[in-house]
Amino acid sequence: MQTLAELDLPHLAMDEPSFGQNPLPRFAEARKQHPWLATSSLGIVITEHKAMRELFGRDDELRPPYKDVVALLGQEGTTWGRFTEEQLISLPVDKHKFLRDTFAAKFTPRFANQMRPLMQATISRLLDEWVPKGSFDFELFASHFPISVMFALVGAPQEGIALLRDDLEVIGLAHSYQLDLFPRIQEGMVRIDEFVQRIIADRRANPHDGIEDMLDLLIDTSDTGNVDHRQLVDLIMFFFLAGYDTSKNVLTYTMYTLLDYPEIYERCAEDYDYCRKVIEEGLRWFNPSTVARFVDKEFEYRGVTFPKDQMLFFPLSISGRDPGSFPDADTFNPDRVVDPNNRQLAFALGKHMCLGQYIARAQLQEALHQVARRIKNPKRVGEVGWRPFFGAWGLKGLPIAFEGA
Ligand code: HEM
Repeated sequence: MQTLAELDLPHLAMDEPSFGQNPLPRFAEARKQHPWLATSSLGIVITEHKAMRELFGRDDELRPPYKDVVALLGQEGTTWGRFTEEQLISLPVDKHKFLRDTFAAKFTPRFANQMRPLMQATISRLLDEWVPKGSFDFELFASHFPISVMFALVGAPQEGIALLRDDLEVIGLAHSYQLDLFPRIQEGMVRIDEFVQRIIADRRANPHDGIEDMLDLLIDTSDTGNVDHRQLVDLIMFFFLAGYDTSKNVLTYTMYTLLDYPEIYERCAEDYDYCRKVIEEGLRWFNPSTVARFVDKEFEYRGVTFPKDQMLFFPLSISGRDPGSFPDADTFNPDRVVDPNNRQLAFALGKHMCLGQYIARAQLQEALHQVARRIKNPKRVGEVGWRPFFGAWGLKGLPIAFEGA
């Protein structure tokens, strides 16, 4: 058995601002020195897709990092700090299980399918507004998509979107550990809290006859499942936050990729089932998250001891490009045969696996299909930038010009 300190591990400077520009060669290089582990300034990095899957299978020995991250950033007692410590993902095991079981039973593929007409109408409205421009920053366009859809799913008036979009944009950077952003992050958190309290109060005052949208489902599930008001507010806030830059960055990167594959893009406009495959391959090709955990109980894995309180990083974002798990990993192929025991990890795995994954997939499929129908012959007309690798990684800006339809 070896300790981590005894291993000769490569170092990945994941906190460097330039790291997000082109991380794949750095991971490939790191795997030459050690096939599945590396160091970083904050903790140990798992660099192999298979090891990530296997370690997520042992999540009873790991704990989510959020309490520790709040302390690390000196944000205890603030609005963001309280929320981050008490949101679904950071709750103690029994409380998490209670809430997760209550809601997971309802967040099914069937429910996501029922929401598709609402999603379609929202995306179509958004495109009516943007397509006549003929050229725009696709990232900016894509940033309106998850929030507009989420507003539609909770029946909120679309006028409030602009302000909350700016709030979500900066809150999304919280996990990239930039301390100077926190005054603005706190301001945004207060506004989102007030907004969620207001939509719940309005709906309780004017209830629908049955379950017509996601807000009905969330309120009904929390009332019948004895979930208290604060937990319900936090969960809805979490939905806004968890679904925002994840979905935006995936849609933006998918568009960026498809600029190099015009035949695939054009087929997405005609063939809806193919469009689903493109999104699935897109989630393997690129996804935004690097998930962190602490070791809660010392354990051994592949002959290495992981001591209690060791911080671990799972860069899910690059895991789908690991050639050890995916043949021709650097070829974008929507027709690739997916091994059900070795799927991509965009939504993580185990007890915190994304609760919104069916909603996320449905809205991405609907968006790509309609974008391909309305934005014809898109071309990149300027440089792209990159977001920090930690947190929600992705493109910063994607200027395109196109023919509108
Ligand atoms: C492409 C879009 C999305 C991606 C890539 C994504 C990714 C993830 C990942 C990697 C996790 C696990 C985090 C961890 O283990 O620390 C997660 C958890 C979660 N996601 Fe998503 N997500 C997306 C969209 C959404 C949407 C739209 C919603 C809500 C409608 C949502 C709700 C959640 C919730 C509630 C959890 C926590 C589950 C738990 O702790 O039990 N996500 N997501």
